[in-house]
Parts: sequence; structure tokens; C-alpha cells
Amino acid sequence: MGKLAGRACVVTGGARGIGREIALAFARAGADIAVVDRRGDLAAGTAAAASTHGVQAHAFTADVSMEQDVAAAMSAAEAALGRIDVLVNNAGIITTAPLADMPVPVWDEMIAVNLRSVFLCSKAVLPGMTRRRFGRIINISSQLGHKGAPNMAHYAAAKAAIIGFTRSLAREAVRDGINVNAICPGAITTELGGDIPSGLRARRLAEIPLGRFGAVGEIAPTAVLLASSEGDYFVGATMNLNGGDVMV
Ligand SMILES: NC(=O)c1ccc[n+]([C@@H]2O[C@H](COP(=O)([O-])OP(=O)(O)OC[C@H]3O[C@@H](n4cnc5c(N)ncnc54)[C@H](O)[C@@H]3O)[C@@H](O)[C@H]2O)c1
Repeated sequence: MGKLAGRACVVTGGARGIGREIALAFARAGADIAVVDRRGDLAAGTAAAASTHGVQAHAFTADVSMEQDVAAAMSAAEAALGRIDVLVNNAGIITTAPLADMPVPVWDEMIAVNLRSVFLCSKAVLPGMTRRRFGRIINISSQLGHKGAPNMAHYAAAKAAIIGFTRSLAREAVRDGINVNAICPGAITTELGGDIPSGLRARRLAEIPLGRFGAVGEIAPTAVLLASSEGDYFVGATMNLNGGDVMV
């Protein structure tokens, strides 16, 4: 029996990158999966790969920054899986701009996709989790929420806010059987980093004590831990997987 056998899990942003790897690791551990992503075509690919592990796997297209999309996707996922035991709030974007030149729509989009989505998706799954007195919410923040980065004030602000959100909801929901935790990855090689200027990329690499970027496969096992019964004593934790870049 896998560590997550019988658990019904939703992963946002699971079409590619860290979210895809978490969805596949969950499926390998026996979980049924719903992938929610604005890239429905790629999300279907993740679901197809997950289903080769003998679990149920579904894909739903949604923009997780939009209230109606989230409500529709979460109720479709709940209908398909029977319930939602685990939510991974992973969907996110990166853009860069010096603050003085940052257009307000760029700021607003960042906060909507990377932070509002965490609120909307968590809010959508909480009633069912509370009724069943069981749930796990895993929020993908970032080490930049601790450290900050030039030209990324909007991203770092959203990711730092996720840590505060995680600690608050963890305190609010734990007596209902719902554990809420965050993972703060360091620099992980995915397509998300494709937009980061090469100068910044080289500076980032030089700052990492381990001397290399991380891989998606180095994040997923912590998500499996937090989703499994082995993670029952983690409440409001921020798991810092970053090659030593930020030691907190
Ligand atoms: N890669 C890194 O170095 C790194 C480091 C720290 C934190 N993170 C965080 O990890 C998460 C995943 O990052 P990644 O590197 O795998 O990125 P990625 O770009 O490879 O994947 C992000 C996924 O989110 C989806 N997505 C984006 N906006 C969406 C929206 N509005 N609605 C629905 N889906 C949406 C994309 O379609 C994509 O499938 C993000 O929250 C990111 O901020 C990444």
C-alpha cells in the first residue's frame, strides 16, 4: 500500500514543472489525482501519466486567480474524486520589473495568480474538509518570500504573504483535522525560470552553498510527506528546500 493510498488530491498548476512532479509522486504513492491548470492540454498529459500508476486521474482547466473558475474546478474535482483530502496550491507565475517601472497590472496579476489563488482554492475546499474533519493543504511559497530579490518585489511579497496565510489558516483549521503547511523551494530548474535574465540566474547560482539549482524531484517527496499520515505533526510549517541558500 502506498503512503497516499485512498487519498483524493488536487494539485493546481500540475500541468508542468514542480506541480506535475508532485502529482506524479502522489499517484506513485497511491493517491487519486485531479490536476487543475489553465493549460488544460498539458494538465491532461499529467493526468494520463498519473493514471499509469493505477489510480484515478483527472484534469480540469481553470484560471486559479478567478473565483468562478476555481469554484467550478473544485466542485468538478470533488465530484470526480468523491471528495478532496489534499490540496496543493502550486500554480504560479514569475515576472520581473524594477519597482519604479512596474506597471500596476503586472503587480495585480502577480498578486492574483500567486496569492489570491491560494485564498480562493483553500476557501473552496475547506467546507468539505471541515465536514469530514480531515484535510491537508500544502502551499508552494518560495525562499524568495524570506530573502527577497531585486526586480521581484511583487513575487516576493506574494510568496511571503503565503507564509503568513499558511500560519494563520493552520491555527484556524487544525482543530478541524486540517493541517496547513508551506514548502519554500529554492531555485529549481523548470520552465518558470526561462524568463529570468541570465545575469540574475548567474548571481543566484553563486549564492547557493550547495553550488547547483534543485530538481523538481527534490521537492515532490516533501509534498508526499506533508500529504501522508507521516506528516501529521507538521502544522503551519515552512519547509525550506533550497540547497542552503536561506537557512531558517
Ligand atoms: N522553479 C523555481 O525555482 C521555484 C522556486 C520557488 C517557488 N516556485 C513556485 O513553485 C510553483 C511552480 O513553479 P514551476 O517552477 O513548476 O513553474 P511552471 O511555470 O513550470 O509551472 C507553473 C504551472 O502553473 C500554471 N499556472 C500559471 N498560472 C496559472 C493560473 N492563473 N491558473 C492556473 N494555472 C496556472 C502553469 O500553466 C504551469 O502549469 C510556483 O508557485 C512557483 O512560484 C518555483
